[in-house]
Amino acid sequence: MLELIGVSKNFTDSSVITQALQPINLQVQDGDFISFIGPSGSGKTTLLNVLGLLETPCSGDYIFAGKRVLALSDKEKSRLRNRDIGYVFQGFHLLPDFNIYDNIEMPLRYSREHAVMRRKRVVTLLEQVGLSDFAKYKPSQLSGGQQQKAAIARALVTEPSVILADEPTGNLDLHSTAEVMALLSTLNQQGTTILMATHNLELAQRSKRVIEVRDGVIKERSLTHYARRWGIAMNRLPTQ
Ligand SMILES: Nc1ncnc2c1ncn2[C@@H]1O[C@H](COP(=O)(O)OP(=O)(O)OP(=O)(O)O)[C@@H](O)[C@H]1O
Ligand SMILES: [Mg+2]
Repeated sequence: MLELIGVSKNFTDSSVITQALQPINLQVQDGDFISFIGPSGSGKTTLLNVLGLLETPCSGDYIFAGKRVLALSDKEKSRLRNRDIGYVFQGFHLLPDFNIYDNIEMPLRYSREHAVMRRKRVVTLLEQVGLSDFAKYKPSQLSGGQQQKAAIARALVTEPSVILADEPTGNLDLHSTAEVMALLSTLNQQGTTILMATHNLELAQRSKRVIEVRDGVIKERSLTHYARRWGIAMNRLPTQ
């Protein structure tokens, strides 16, 4: 359903050119759960941003749900971003002056959804992420884990087919990390495609596919490979 064909990305700052992604080929199926792991600066965020239509590739072709992304107008791209993709960032990116309810509802304001339906959807999501009692709170009144759950609810409000999560647990303690990962796993079991960047191999083990990113080059290996290499018990691996 998503396909990168020889997609590369470089950034030019004054006279310095950084090749953030070497030409990449990648196929993502509906319902996939992929972890991109790799050291800082390896290109994980750039890759997620390209996949999320936030960055334009410098070469190659990108097919999103049967459409050639490079041939789309800005308007068509923003419609895909708004309807089909949910973004979860490390720093949450909630709007500080709005309460949790309004933050979650925000992406629907740009859709033509009826007010009653919007309300129903936000209330359901608040329940799903366990924040029903915090609807009226401002983001700063919530813990990091709660803010991240609110950010996930906001990413889900348009019922996107793909969730992009960049270090979704990077700022969280162990307990909140477990809760957020459980939430992502449940969403994936319900059919949402999840693409996650992480430094943490143990979290990556929760996904169906692990792809290493190093100097802008990707390499996919089986989960069994990591289980052997890191001595992680097979019974802790997700069933595939
Ligand atoms: N907007 C930009 N302008 C110039 N260079 C950039 C830009 N964004 C990323 N880069 C460079 O591209 C390379 C890949 O960066 P990227 O942010 O994708 O890495 P990352 O794997 O997400 O790292 P981290 O784990 O620290 O988040 C780095 O060398 C970085 O400096
Ligand atoms: Mg990054």
